[in-house]
Amino acid sequence: MKEERLDKLLAAQGTWSRREIKDFVRRGAVTVNGKNVRTADVKITTDDEVIVFGKRIALKKHLYLMMNKPMGVVSASRGDDCPTVVDLVPAELKRKGLFPAGRLDKDTTGFVLITDDGAFAHDILSPKRHIPKTYIATLDGVLTQQVADAFAGGIPLKNEDKCLPAQLTILDDHTAQVVLHEGMYHQIKRMFAACGLHVEKLHRIAMGAMLLDETLAEGQCRELTAQELELVQNRDGLKE
Ligand code: URA
Repeated sequence: MKEERLDKLLAAQGTWSRREIKDFVRRGAVTVNGKNVRTADVKITTDDEVIVFGKRIALKKHLYLMMNKPMGVVSASRGDDCPTVVDLVPAELKRKGLFPAGRLDKDTTGFVLITDDGAFAHDILSPKRHIPKTYIATLDGVLTQQVADAFAGGIPLKNEDKCLPAQLTILDDHTAQVVLHEGMYHQIKRMFAACGLHVEKLHRIAMGAMLLDETLAEGQCRELTAQELELVQNRDGLKE
């Protein structure tokens, strides 16, 4: 377990600044494993019992949230006029540095992972890692096997390289499940447009092998467990 300075780990929780922490540590408000500490540079790990003003602090270096994104909300940390997914994170889960790992369009709904761990986000989004993202698309026209074959062959998009092969499963005449292994701008909409179809609704149901928790109402989020984070990083995606 990596050791970090007390003030650094406490500041990462997002409640206090380093300066505030140094100040209240000096005033004797903090105990580590039952001992009062007076300097903020003591080294601790996330396993240590840290009590601040009499309250046990659950130390976590990073936070990983699964949100069910509603329509009309932008996948960003800051938005000019529109609410962002980070705005929807409730106060008890808010901390500094949160951002969505990957973008869904404003009108796309479903699974968005929000974190403050840049390395993790980079890892799950890197095209080299091929972490599959699974969507349900509703189309204006009738789906055919030809469309599924075109997706499997890699759709050429204007001004871009050919898309990687994508798996399209026809669920009914107007609904398909699509699995992507990369994330280009408006990719699914543009892939269907190249086949003469317009996407009316798009909903992300999974990242890696981790399904969106259907008990989350639109706009709600919850923390992902360590086991669930491993599922997000699973390159095999959902089982058939
Ligand atoms: N493809 C799109 O076209 N939009 C999204 O939001 C995600 C994938």
